[in-house]
Amino acid sequence: MNDPIVPRLYFAPLEGVTDRFFRAIHASLFSDCLPDAYFAPFFTPTQDTPMTDRDRAAVLPENNPGMTTVPQIMSNTPGTFLLGARMLADMGYTEVNLNLGCPSGTVTSRGRGAGFLSDPDALDRFFDEVFSDLLFSPYGGGMRLSVKTRLGLFAPDEFHDILPVYNRYPIAELILHPRVRREMYRGDVHTDMTVWTAQNTSIPLCINGDLFTPEDVTSVCDALGALPHAVMLGRGAVSNPMLFAGVRAALSGAKLPPIDKARIYRFYEALCEDARTRLSGERHVLFRMKELFAYWIVLFADAEHHRRRLRKAATLPEFRAAADALFSECDLYPDAGFIGNAKMNG
Ligand SMILES: Cc1cc2nc3c(=O)[nH]c(=O)nc-3n(C[C@H](O)[C@H](O)[C@H](O)COP(=O)(O)O)c2cc1C
Repeated sequence: MNDPIVPRLYFAPLEGVTDRFFRAIHASLFSDCLPDAYFAPFFTPTQDTPMTDRDRAAVLPENNPGMTTVPQIMSNTPGTFLLGARMLADMGYTEVNLNLGCPSGTVTSRGRGAGFLSDPDALDRFFDEVFSDLLFSPYGGGMRLSVKTRLGLFAPDEFHDILPVYNRYPIAELILHPRVRREMYRGDVHTDMTVWTAQNTSIPLCINGDLFTPEDVTSVCDALGALPHAVMLGRGAVSNPMLFAGVRAALSGAKLPPIDKARIYRFYEALCEDARTRLSGERHVLFRMKELFAYWIVLFADAEHHRRRLRKAATLPEFRAAADALFSECDLYPDAGFIGNAKMNG
C-alpha cells in the first residue's frame, strides 16, 4: 500500500467519532482506500487505573481488525504515562502517541493536552524521565513515542520555545496541528509555522489541520517545498471516507477516483445498525447519527432543505426517512470532497 513517493496517510483521532466501531466499519467498507494508520482517541491513565475496561476494549488488537492502530495517551506525569504505555506494549503495540493538542477546558485546566505546552521546562522533564525508561530504550522495550502537538496556548511563536524541547529527544514522529489552543479548530491554520517547523527539526513531520481535499494537501506540500513524512486527515476523512484514495491519487499524479454514493450509503447504514445494536435508547442513536450527518452533509449538492430536515428529526424513523430522501434526491458534488466543496465548519 505504501507508494514510496506518497507520504504516509493517517486517520486522525476524533474522540466520540472515530471510536473502534467507526474504525472497524471504515476499514471493512473502504479496504481499498485505507489510511496507513488510524490513531485512536486518547485515554487518560491514572495510578490506580492505567486503563479502564473501555480503554482496553478500544485498542485491543482483536477489536481493531484489518488496520494499523496507534493508541494515544493523555498525561502530564511520566509515571502514569509509563503505566499506560506498558499496558499497550503488553498488548503488542510498538508505538504510543502523546496528546499535546487537546484544547478542551477540562483537559487544559489540569495541565494536560495543549495545557502542558504552557511549561516547556516541565515538558522537558517529562520526556527526560520517559525516555530514560527501559520501555523506550532501543535496547529494552523498543517502544516508539510520537507526539501530536499544537503550537502553544495563545500565540504561535510559543512554539519557538517548545520545538527545541522535542528536538532534544528521540521522538519518532511529530504530528503538528498548526493552531494554538485559543483557536480551538477555527480560523486559518498557521502554515508559516509548519514551514518553520520543517526547517527546524529533524523529527519526521506529519502535517495536520484543515486538509479537507487533495488540493489542500498538495498546496501545503507546495508551501513546504517537499513532501512531508506523513499527512493526518481528520474531519475531512470523516466527511469523505474515500479521501485517502483521493489524496494518494493527487500526490502521485494519478486520476482522482470517483466518490461512490452507494458506498457512502452503505457506510451510513452500517454505522446506524451498529449504533442501534450498541447504544441504549433511540435518543442516543439519533444523536450519534445527527453528529455523523453533520460531517456527511457537505458532500451533497443543494441539500439545505435536507440538512434542516435531518436536524429537526425527533425520532429515529423520521431521521431515517430524511436520510433516505437526502440520498435519493441530492447528487454528490462532482468529485465531492476531492475538489473543494467539503469545507468544514469545525
Ligand atoms: C470532535 C473532535 C474530537 C477530537 N479528538 C481528538 C483526540 O482524541 N485526540 C487528538 O489528538 N485529537 C483530537 N482531535 C483533533 C483531531 O485529531 C485533528 O487534529 C483536528 O480535527 C484537526 O484536523 P482536521 O482539520 O483534519 O480535522 C479531535 C477533533 C475533533 C473535532
